[in-house]
Amino acid sequence: MASASLLKTSPIVDKSEWVKGQTLRQPSASVVRCHPVAPSGLTVRASSYADELVKTAKTIASPGRGILAMDESNATCGKRLASIGLENTEGNRQAYRTLLVSAPGLGQYISGAILFEETLYQTTIDGKKMVDVLVEQNIVPGIKVDKGLVPLAGSNNESWCQGLDGLAPRSAAYYQQGARFAKWRTVVSIPNGPSELAVKEAAWGLARYAAISQDNGLVPIVEPEILLDGEHGIDRTFEVAKKVWAEVFFYLAQNNVLFEGILLKPSMVTPGAECKDKATPQQVAEYTLSLLRQRIPPAVPGIMFLSGGQSEVEATLNLNAMNQAPNPWHVSFSYARALQNTCLKTWGGRPENVKAAQETLLVRAKANSLAQLGKYTGEGESEEAKQGMFVKGYVY
Ligand code: 13P
Repeated sequence: MASASLLKTSPIVDKSEWVKGQTLRQPSASVVRCHPVAPSGLTVRASSYADELVKTAKTIASPGRGILAMDESNATCGKRLASIGLENTEGNRQAYRTLLVSAPGLGQYISGAILFEETLYQTTIDGKKMVDVLVEQNIVPGIKVDKGLVPLAGSNNESWCQGLDGLAPRSAAYYQQGARFAKWRTVVSIPNGPSELAVKEAAWGLARYAAISQDNGLVPIVEPEILLDGEHGIDRTFEVAKKVWAEVFFYLAQNNVLFEGILLKPSMVTPGAECKDKATPQQVAEYTLSLLRQRIPPAVPGIMFLSGGQSEVEATLNLNAMNQAPNPWHVSFSYARALQNTCLKTWGGRPENVKAAQETLLVRAKANSLAQLGKYTGEGESEEAKQGMFVKGYVY
């Protein structure tokens, strides 16, 4: 973690000099591309992919569509497969991911799919590249680039996210392989603080990752997940979320990240999972939109929420409540558990269930598409889809 004071003495990203050295009016990406020169004589180079980044982000944030997060690490995918009695083999992971990417008509509701590295380089069980199947479905392939969470020394049992070393060449290779956006998930825990250190570290890591991704043609999804764990009420989540997003945007700006070429993946503002007071979708929407309005510039094209252990139906209802009036950004979903849970169970590892499982995936994708448009009614949902999926201390 580079501290703010270290940054202030850095010859490359001196924020105050950078602001003085450029015109304050930046109406379009092409202005960002004009390679402004700071008074010190140093050129601050913006990504040569600027136009493409803006286009990719807009494509993903298109009306009635959201992201399918299917980037479980091999360890997490193993837990999913174990829940339906399957072994964690490459073949089983391939069979499951084949089912997901080839669900007929998925691209009507899904604009992007986040993949784990194995899947980006994998073929379907019929020997087609997973990436090609997605592109044929009009779905933009994305890639999880972080290397997971480890304990943060000097903190209150909190964690930090690894993966910056070697990120530039990895990102360039992912682009070559067909990825056009990236995801980096770090977490903030409310019961453990969050400490000032943990929030700064999370924000700085996200900002460096975002700058490196843009430099290599990948739209970064910025995901500081505020974990659901805890007994706190919704006001406490709101307060922490405001702090976290203030810090994230401070460092994104310091790293010269192009806001028009990013996507956000926030947690919704809810009470802690162990809080006795529950919030209605209207309350969640009110708090979450209030947070977004106070912290997120309208230049950001898309807010793609994570589900974080909410039930499938709860996540859809909350999203729907947020889309009852126009928002400055596309407000949508990037769910893993809340899109896949019933689908995985319906499949159960049996080839004869593939079609039925794909249909359940389509049901969820369509429900969330309607919620993105503010038109979801919640009628006819199965009991399975109403089951919460919160796991204490969840590791993705
Ligand atoms: P969940 O929707 O299961 O919380 O997963 C979100 C995520 O970060 C995956 O990219």
